[in-house]
Amino acid sequence: MEGYRGDLLDVSNLRVFFHTYRGTIKALNGVELWLNQGERLGIVGESGCGKSVTSLAFMQLIEQPGEMTGGRIMFDNKELNTLTEKELDSVRGKDMATIFQEPVSALNPVLKVGFQIGENIKRIKPKASKREVREETANMLELVGLDSKRISGFYPHELSGGMAQRVMIAMALSSSPKLLIADEPTSALDVTIQAQILELLEELVEKMNYSAILITHDMGVAAEFCDKIAVMYAGNTVEYTTVEEIFNNPVHPYAKGLFKAVPKVGQTSELETIAGEVPDLVNPPSGCRFHPRCSHTKPICKDGFPPLQELSPGHFVACYLYGDEDSK
Ligand SMILES: Nc1ncnc2c1ncn2[C@@H]1O[C@H](COP(=O)(O)OP(=O)(O)OP(=O)(O)O)[C@@H](O)[C@H]1O
Ligand code: SF4
Ligand SMILES: [Mg+2]
Repeated sequence: MEGYRGDLLDVSNLRVFFHTYRGTIKALNGVELWLNQGERLGIVGESGCGKSVTSLAFMQLIEQPGEMTGGRIMFDNKELNTLTEKELDSVRGKDMATIFQEPVSALNPVLKVGFQIGENIKRIKPKASKREVREETANMLELVGLDSKRISGFYPHELSGGMAQRVMIAMALSSSPKLLIADEPTSALDVTIQAQILELLEELVEKMNYSAILITHDMGVAAEFCDKIAVMYAGNTVEYTTVEEIFNNPVHPYAKGLFKAVPKVGQTSELETIAGEVPDLVNPPSGCRFHPRCSHTKPICKDGFPPLQELSPGHFVACYLYGDEDSK
């Protein structure tokens, strides 16, 4: 995609609100993200900062009471937010596939696993013969380490959590997507199974050179899996850079707190907790949403909204401590 920050994905100023009885939740307040083909982007940030809503918005899956109130999502030369439902059907689950946190609830409980994968393959290759669909279903199940003969005939409730997540990975990869999104793909699983599934995912992404977005709370996983990291805080991208740079040289006061303890590769390391409370997004703080928790707050932080600026090549930050003198 010429003229964009990423040649596969460029999301700018993404805004999503939820209209609830409590008031309007300003969940996404101008998210900025981009990705080149073949890259792996990690999205990290505290619970409720908008990671899942962001990935749902990519696929235009924000439902009532939610609403995308602004922004642009460019993906593979298409502006997704302008497409019709029919046009989006040729993107969702095909060019852009998602692995969700709860695999069992993402599968249809009354259909056998083999049939569900087969249906997905038929959607992508409508001209494939029954035999081709059967063979490809078996290949996909074997690819994720499952015995295809046995598992094809299982219903979702007969699968363990780890097996169900393998099936979800097989489903997602069966369309050879241009972008694979994994939203906390292992957090519902036992710790030992988590490691196996992540290893499998990493191996497949590497082998097939997939472009991928991984949403995670685990900094060790982010360090191992990702090339780039976007740090989100209360509905904004506050820092975006390479994985090396974010671990060695985080600059946003929130990211500095998160990356205080640099995990060793392969070590599980949860997000650091940061003093103060996650803001209420019905009445978010004015200006920089981090200002009530920041130890560097200046008067402008309460008034102005710090834009994401390039501090050094490829390293972007949204904070008044950095950037042009004029913007301080
Ligand atoms: N369907 C919904 N209705 C109302 N509010 C919602 C809905 N979905 C998300 N939100 C709100 O949007 C904000 C962002 O939620 P989101 O699920 O994206 O967070 P997250 O970063 O994925 O958190 P977690 O790490 O816990 O998964 C939260 O304040 C949440 O309460
Ligand atoms: S803009 Fe101000 S309040 Fe926000 S992180 Fe930077 S210094 Fe802290
Ligand atoms: Mg989430």
